[in-house]
Amino acid sequence: MKLAIIILAAGLGTRMKSSLPKVLHKIYDKPIIQYVIEALMRLSPEKSIVVVGSEGEIIINFLKSYPVSFAMQKQQKGTADALKYGIAKIEGFEGVILVVNGDTPLIDSAVLQKFIDLHISNSEDISILSFIAKGSHSYGRIIRAGDNVIKIIEDRDADESQKKINEVNSGIYAFKPHILKLLDDIKINEKKGEYYLTDIVDLAVVKKYKVCAHNIASEDQLAGINTREDLCNAFNYLKLRVINKWLDKGVTLLDKNTTFIHPDVQIGTDTIIYPNVHLEGKTVIGSNCIIYPNSRIVDTIIADNVTIKDSSVIELSEIMEDATIGPFAHIRPQSIIGPSSKIGNFVEIKKSVLGKGVKASHLSYLGDSEIGSNVNIGAGTITCNYDGKLKHKTIIEDDVFIGSDTQLVAPIKVGKGSYVGAGSTITKEVPPSSLAISRSPQKNLKKLISIRLSKKRADGDKI
Ligand code: UD1
Ligand code: CA
Repeated sequence: MKLAIIILAAGLGTRMKSSLPKVLHKIYDKPIIQYVIEALMRLSPEKSIVVVGSEGEIIINFLKSYPVSFAMQKQQKGTADALKYGIAKIEGFEGVILVVNGDTPLIDSAVLQKFIDLHISNSEDISILSFIAKGSHSYGRIIRAGDNVIKIIEDRDADESQKKINEVNSGIYAFKPHILKLLDDIKINEKKGEYYLTDIVDLAVVKKYKVCAHNIASEDQLAGINTREDLCNAFNYLKLRVINKWLDKGVTLLDKNTTFIHPDVQIGTDTIIYPNVHLEGKTVIGSNCIIYPNSRIVDTIIADNVTIKDSSVIELSEIMEDATIGPFAHIRPQSIIGPSSKIGNFVEIKKSVLGKGVKASHLSYLGDSEIGSNVNIGAGTITCNYDGKLKHKTIIEDDVFIGSDTQLVAPIKVGKGSYVGAGSTITKEVPPSSLAISRSPQKNLKKLISIRLSKKRADGDKI
């Protein structure tokens, strides 16, 4: 049977206390509405309508790559009113009309398919996807007489005994098209000043139409986002789902609560991840890696047997096998760290390619550089890559030893097998197999010191 979907997303979302439309608030890096649309698209609907409000331009703009049409509800007069705008766009449609609140991001397409199948096989006029809510909440309660659904009562209209009912409305419904003419009979709810879609149940039951509620999924999957707390809870649910997946696939995670793994991240087996590690974007981590606490790794490829020591930040880069990074290292975008290289504390690397077995163990800045294999970068080495206008390249060939506290003024090249003496400022190319020293020679002025000492003695100073 053909399927049309209508997503209600025109609400003001006032409980979010935000200038951004509610459905554009994000879980990870994806807005709520995108989760909903992606789940619904898997059902291959014939028609898809998103009902947006007066501030809907931004939502329309965001969703322009999806095969959906839009309906505009100019004034937010409630969910029944919103649905009227939606069905106006699919006039004459024959099949199942699935209506979904735009603020339920955790829905699963398999659950939705099962729900639609029940709606069709039982030939129901109205089907409601319900769930059992735990704790305090503000969902509409499903009122039954025996097994039969007779009404949905909103939280603010429920009396004390109705509030105790824990089967609630998820805001997901399947309708036969003919039943939606009842939308015109819904009266305004005086308390809220809105037309409630949930009131259609009462009207349909009175007219002896078949109304059923199916409790076939958990609160975790059907939770609606109304407040920042709901958003935080949804994020935590998804976060835990991702973490459990990696535990199941053979990754050791020391702390479920403080580890953050983006759903697109890949991790190899026997990798160990310490608390407070953030793996973001499309990061790929190999097998047998260890990532110590407080590191943030974004859109980076890390090969097998890599160790990332504490508090390192790595962005849009590649770290090859057996390398060690950190503690306190910053690997900035477009860097490649070669196999078995060691990047130590307070080393910043930007847009640089390092070969095999490079050691930059302490306090250095390597930017716009190309560094060969087996190069030793002494503590405090700086590539002076910026002349105030342009960035210039530093090339260091294989087997070079750069002494501590060296400045390499780019553009510059240090040839294969050369040495640069500590404390040098290198401004000219160093040919292969040479020693470059640019510091002024040391003078030990013994005479001067003995004159000073005898003067102090004469003044009676203690030495
Ligand atoms: C609604 C249901 C409630 C259910 C809960 C599930 C009603 C009256 N109540 O309550 O029974 O338990 O969802 O999460 O339907 N919207 C519009 N136009 C409007 C008002 C709302 O498009 O004028 C959209 C919103 O953007 C939202 C959806 O409809 O995506 C639901 O509205 P919301 O205000 O969040 O309803 P709830 O109070 O959560
Ligand atoms: Ca809601």
